[in-house]
Amino acid sequence: MTTPLLTLSDVSKNFGTNQALSDISLEVNPGEVLCLLGDNGAGKSTLIKILSGVHKPSSGTVEVEGKPVVFDSPKAASDVGIATVHQYGGTFPLMSVARCFFVGHEPTKGVWPFKYFDKKAAGEITVREMQKLGITRVTDGSRLTGALSGGERQSLAIARAVYFGARVLILDEPTSALGVKQSTHVLRIIMHARAQGIAVVFVTHNVTHAMAVGDRFAVLIHGKKADDFRKGERTREQITDLMAGGEAMAELEAELAELTGPVQTTP
Ligand SMILES: Nc1ncnc2c1ncn2[C@@H]1O[C@H](COP(=O)(O)OP(=O)(O)OP(=O)(O)O)[C@@H](O)[C@H]1O
Ligand SMILES: [Mg+2]
Repeated sequence: MTTPLLTLSDVSKNFGTNQALSDISLEVNPGEVLCLLGDNGAGKSTLIKILSGVHKPSSGTVEVEGKPVVFDSPKAASDVGIATVHQYGGTFPLMSVARCFFVGHEPTKGVWPFKYFDKKAAGEITVREMQKLGITRVTDGSRLTGALSGGERQSLAIARAVYFGARVLILDEPTSALGVKQSTHVLRIIMHARAQGIAVVFVTHNVTHAMAVGDRFAVLIHGKKADDFRKGERTREQITDLMAGGEAMAELEAELAELTGPVQTTP
């Protein structure tokens, strides 16, 4: 038995009277993909913000390799090798793409005290690493991050996490803003990271994406862990129903079909 990279024990989080998470216990292991599933507002992003030092738990403990930790900042989490691509933002709109890629890891040229940020090298690395993810339209590292599309921004954040060698890669809905080609790239990166022994936490609403890469699954419903299983232990239909907060997806789809009516085809 190896010690899990991350262990959460009875983690709860409330925002005033809003109980976002109740007594969540989870383990994240090296070389495994943990899919975190659940409906809107289930508490997935809150859990991820606890793991990445954005929020502190109201109660419960987080351990890194068996040692209890309290992250005072996102930097504290990043210092132990936890890289997070948040659902919204995570980049700096007024910074160049290359600056953003190297925040906290600036490459320098020259000898102290004349070190300076090497824009050219940084730009080349950034463009190359993004191209590896299939983002080919960004060809200039000096472009502003704010001018990228949502998917391009997500890809930038994933590229930097992989490039700087994270031990835990946390992705909060990385594929929801992406096209088919880029989603496939992200799934490929997840598998690549897993093969290198990185622990991946993957939040998604897409059951096909989850089933394609997940080794373990945890389902949150209203802030509680409703189910926890390994690959192959649930059918696709069971997973879809759990992802809809425990409601039968077939019934929801029938209701949706009633509301929208038959699709009109032109004669
Ligand atoms: N900073 C905050 N202050 C107050 N309430 C919050 C805060 N962040 C989240 N919440 C509340 O906590 C609950 C869980 O939100 P969370 O963002 O974790 O859900 P989620 O599972 O990520 O949903 P989605 O699938 O829509 O992204 C929601 O009721 C939300 O309104
Ligand atoms: Mg969320």
